Amino acid sequence: MDKFLMWGGETLRGEVRTSGSKNAVLPILAASLMADTPSTITNCPWLKDVDTMVEILEAMGVRVQRTYEGSLHVDPGPLESHEAPYELVRKMRASIYVLGALLGRFGKAAVSMPGGCVIGPRPIDLHMKGFTELGATIEQRCGYIYADAKELVGREIVLGGPAGSSVGATANVLMAAVKAKGTTVLSSAACEPEIVDLANFLNRMGANVSGAGTPIIMVEGVDELHGVDDYKVIPDRIEAGTFIAATAVTRGTVTIKDAEPAHLRSEIAKAIEAGATVETRNGDIHVDATGGPKAIEVVTQPYPGFPTDLQAQFMAAALRADGMSRFVEKIYPNRFMHVMEFARLGADITMDGNRAIVHGVEHLSGAPIMASDLRASAGLVLAGLAAEGATTIHRVYHIDRGYEDIEEKLGALGAKIKRVKSN
Ligand code: UD1
Repeated sequence: MDKFLMWGGETLRGEVRTSGSKNAVLPILAASLMADTPSTITNCPWLKDVDTMVEILEAMGVRVQRTYEGSLHVDPGPLESHEAPYELVRKMRASIYVLGALLGRFGKAAVSMPGGCVIGPRPIDLHMKGFTELGATIEQRCGYIYADAKELVGREIVLGGPAGSSVGATANVLMAAVKAKGTTVLSSAACEPEIVDLANFLNRMGANVSGAGTPIIMVEGVDELHGVDDYKVIPDRIEAGTFIAATAVTRGTVTIKDAEPAHLRSEIAKAIEAGATVETRNGDIHVDATGGPKAIEVVTQPYPGFPTDLQAQFMAAALRADGMSRFVEKIYPNRFMHVMEFARLGADITMDGNRAIVHGVEHLSGAPIMASDLRASAGLVLAGLAAEGATTIHRVYHIDRGYEDIEEKLGALGAKIKRVKSN
């Protein structure tokens, strides 16, 4: 297993490019199998999770080619299977997206149940509720979900759960609804930019979706969908937000290029609360954090609230802040695996249920630490930037799932970080 060796204490300076959004490209790739003709999707990040989705499509007979860097050509013509096997689904929960796409295309699907997750329980009841209400029969046996529908029929479906809207359920049910007869109204839908990107892609395929980005999405079912040429995936707001946090951690001055500042309003507001000056122009976000991090209050919420996927990274910024910061995790109450690892670097954090109180310390000191999941690993890397001396981060395969060239990108900004390959 690869690890990162880091030497903290450098101040990040310069420019860094934002990659295409992981969480947007995954459902878009799944949706591409619903067309009769090929699609070309550009600005695809080169990530393990994207590889996994490609492998799932290929396992079903879809032909996928990387035509040039960052672009995927998907030909669903040869698609012959409607089954996504355990060996692939177990690698990534977002594999569940092929369920909605297959149901929309064939009226049937067999997808392995996604397994447990280190960030806590991640139910899929809302996905199943949506499919059932569209007229599908859902059965779970031998670790698989079997979905079957003679005909999908549009209707009003409420997608909200105890933690608010669900991104995955909204995307999944939306894909099936596009091919349902008549009108579907998805209420309490997730408003994340990745849902808007998926809806835009589906509309380019010939679907009739309106209201994406609001809690009410209307879908008029269509009979056929076609491939899309040169669909450009939106920039990754979580990666861009990670660079904002990295700048705050190191009290640096960084311009984040090719981002979408409109998708990062709560993160930019938080960086300003942390004492940074932030300017946005077109797709650039210029962060000057030389003022040093101040304490912040973070409550994770569905979009446009502060994203749970940036909680660990902004906590890394709070570790050396002036004063006491508070983090309340409302999406995944157990998502605090990074806290024990931060403590190994000398952080002062007290936990109380889904709340973490961080008392800023003067110094962090490098230590061996262990990545537990994708976003927590990004938090650890950021803390390693601030810790004095050497930090080793084990199990960085987690970070490779969702960050393209993270060590090169941070290295170009002045970070001392090196990947040590395992044999
Ligand atoms: C997506 C993102 C993930 C992010 C999360 C929350 C992708 C590939 N992943 O995950 O990075 O952390 O949104 O922003 O886009 N829930 C239910 N029942 C369901 C589905 C979800 O109760 O059927 C709950 C979850 O337990 C959680 C909340 O709803 O508390 C939000 O989850 P959801 O938005 O579905 O997350 P994902 O789509 O899995």
